[in-house]
Amino acid sequence: MEVTQTRAALQESLAKLKKAGSTVALVPTMGALHDGHISLINEAKKEADIVVCSIFVNPTQFTDPKDLEKYPRPLEHDINMLKKAGCDVVFMPSVKEMYPDFPKPEDWYIDLGEAEFLLEGEFRKGHYQGVTQIVYKLFKVVEPDIALFGQKDFQQVLMIKTMVQKLDLPVKIITCPIIREKEGLAMSSRNVHLSEKDRKNALVLSRSLQYIKDNYNTLDINALLEQAKQMIIATEHVELDYLTIANGETLHPLKQKALKNVVALVAAKVGETRLIDNMIIN
Ligand code: PAJ
Repeated sequence: MEVTQTRAALQESLAKLKKAGSTVALVPTMGALHDGHISLINEAKKEADIVVCSIFVNPTQFTDPKDLEKYPRPLEHDINMLKKAGCDVVFMPSVKEMYPDFPKPEDWYIDLGEAEFLLEGEFRKGHYQGVTQIVYKLFKVVEPDIALFGQKDFQQVLMIKTMVQKLDLPVKIITCPIIREKEGLAMSSRNVHLSEKDRKNALVLSRSLQYIKDNYNTLDINALLEQAKQMIIATEHVELDYLTIANGETLHPLKQKALKNVVALVAAKVGETRLIDNMIIN
């Protein structure tokens, strides 16, 4: 596995590996890798000849400087995990390499539609401009045929697909299912910040989503939401940001039940850590 830190080194590695007709998959990450990330690498290996994983804690998508500062960066652990998973090239650039002018804001704005401002976009203003900015830059330097993202960040995938469509980028976006701990907690790099007690309390998030899924056909939508919200509100040290049953394309809350494209999404602070989760209902 090649580990590269500059655009030039990455491109040199890719040129060495590429043979006529070989395809490249990109898995963008911010590191602190877990089995959720590795599931994307495994899927990438099935879908393409060469797998590139980027590790870059992207400052432009953080809205809380404390969150950026305390974001875990266990680089050696990450490299070992990627080696074991059979990744071909790791790209771990510095902030200067990706944003030569940082911290001066670089010119980037893309109209991502109304959904940019809902849910995560409401709680983390400008977050999806930062996400699309870095993903665009990574697409430019890697030139992948496909890129893989997790359903864990449901709204993120929607925003990236919107960018790809608007800018006509020749990259196929593949969405991979959420990998969970045995008890249901969605894996996340931020889970390392959870105390044992927080971990237990955090289970209410996946449970409330599962409750919505299990009772979707029998309860009316307001009752469903109300009861699921109560489960969360009743849990100690969990502060709910939102819980919604929404259309999976527009992210608008459902006024009445629909037969397809329904997703339940939740965000909450558990102790000091903000977590998100979602479940496709049908
Ligand atoms: P990060 O949070 O490191 O996640 C990298 C990728 O792993 C994302 O596509 C995310 O959805 C996926 N992922 C995270 N947890 C998962 C889980 N439990 N199961 C399956 N997939 C999971 O998302 C980002 O980084 C950044 O915003 C990025 C796209 C790299 C841009 O900076």
